[in-house]
Amino acid sequence: MKVLLIGSGGREHALASALKRDPSLEELHVAPGNPGIAEIATCHATNTDDNAAVIALAESLGIDLVVIGPEKPLIQGLSDDLRKAGFAVFGPSKAAAEIEGSKDFAKQVMRDAGVLTAHSFTCETREEVERALDTFGAPYVVKHDGLAAGKGVVVTEDRAIALEHALLSPRVVIEEFLDGPEVSLFGISDGKNILAMQPAQDFKRAFDGDLGPNTGGMGAYSPLPWAPDEIVEETLEQVLKPTIAEMAARGTPFVGLLYAGLALTNKGTRVIEFNARFGDPETEVLLPRLQTPLAGLLLKAATRDLKDHPPLQWSDQSAVTVVLASDGYPMSPKVGEPLTGINPIEGSEVFHAGTTLDGNLLKSSGGRVLAVTGLGADLTEARDKAYRVISGITLRGSHYRSDIALNASIAEKGN
Ligand code: AMP
Ligand code: GLY
Repeated sequence: MKVLLIGSGGREHALASALKRDPSLEELHVAPGNPGIAEIATCHATNTDDNAAVIALAESLGIDLVVIGPEKPLIQGLSDDLRKAGFAVFGPSKAAAEIEGSKDFAKQVMRDAGVLTAHSFTCETREEVERALDTFGAPYVVKHDGLAAGKGVVVTEDRAIALEHALLSPRVVIEEFLDGPEVSLFGISDGKNILAMQPAQDFKRAFDGDLGPNTGGMGAYSPLPWAPDEIVEETLEQVLKPTIAEMAARGTPFVGLLYAGLALTNKGTRVIEFNARFGDPETEVLLPRLQTPLAGLLLKAATRDLKDHPPLQWSDQSAVTVVLASDGYPMSPKVGEPLTGINPIEGSEVFHAGTTLDGNLLKSSGGRVLAVTGLGADLTEARDKAYRVISGITLRGSHYRSDIALNASIAEKGN
């Protein structure tokens, strides 16, 4: 099979690495890719904001399956245009990707599907905003309605900050604060059937101890030794399947990866958000453990053929991913700094997220620069590997969290 993967981040590097392990894969092409991906696939400098250019590339290569990584091309209708041109595509239509593109739309779908989520108001005026803030009280949760790369959400005790954030966007969703640990659970859907992946936990705050601003994600681990065993089955039945059924009933079937961000509250599981694509850095922590061949799986989803697919197979290792971020990330990341000392050890993988080649010199080119995954018999061993590798990497001014999966690994040892 010849696969074309769209994207250039750590998630796409992890997807590329997993696709390569599938014996049915003959050729892997990536547009635009990055220097890490270029070591394992053929990269093409195609402008992926130009749907016609992507179709021309897929045609010239005789591609069997297109896999779309990031949300932006989904929202721009790339999968619709590729499907019209006759390609099998893993990635939802523009209409179905609205489940990520609009917080308000996601709330409507959940309401109609009977999926439990935080109570919310969608507000367009200052009066509506103030009324909603006062209805729920602190901590305040304010979300911009459109796409914001994980940075449109503010959770704060300070009403003035909440109000200021709300007034930055013409339409916001203000909702009840959900207390409890967060879990990311992904489903692979063919529009009608959906297979659950294993749960992962993502660390969204920039600094140790969950301090600092929200980011795209500073690290992750999987599996979750503390999570109830039923969480996957329960989320599959109560969240993923009803949502897929509702999207199909609306005439906009969701074919691709449905990402459920969950809060495990004392009243039960609630959906915090949906995304329409693989999460980052959860993908870097999950895919190294996936044993089901990925290219075949995604092709079956893209061709509406998951009905009789067996459950996904996973290695019983633990995985921990730690993200190396640029100086100033997430507020004002400094890029263009030389990057050295990338030396993966056995049981680790280094994924490039924001890197570029300047001649022969590898340099940082984004806020999140690398994602380092360690694998081990338990979380302690997986952490040890990830931190051994990341601590050897030199990038001026860079930072990473030192507490990814720390509490979970201590709790796991105590059991
Ligand atoms: P989102 O983009 O909706 O996932 O929000 C980003 C982060 O903000 C989430 O991962 C949570 O940590 C936090 N968050 C969002 N909504 C809520 C909520 N209703 N209650 C508590 N925290 C929230
Ligand atoms: N890890 C959060 C996200 O991908 O949105």
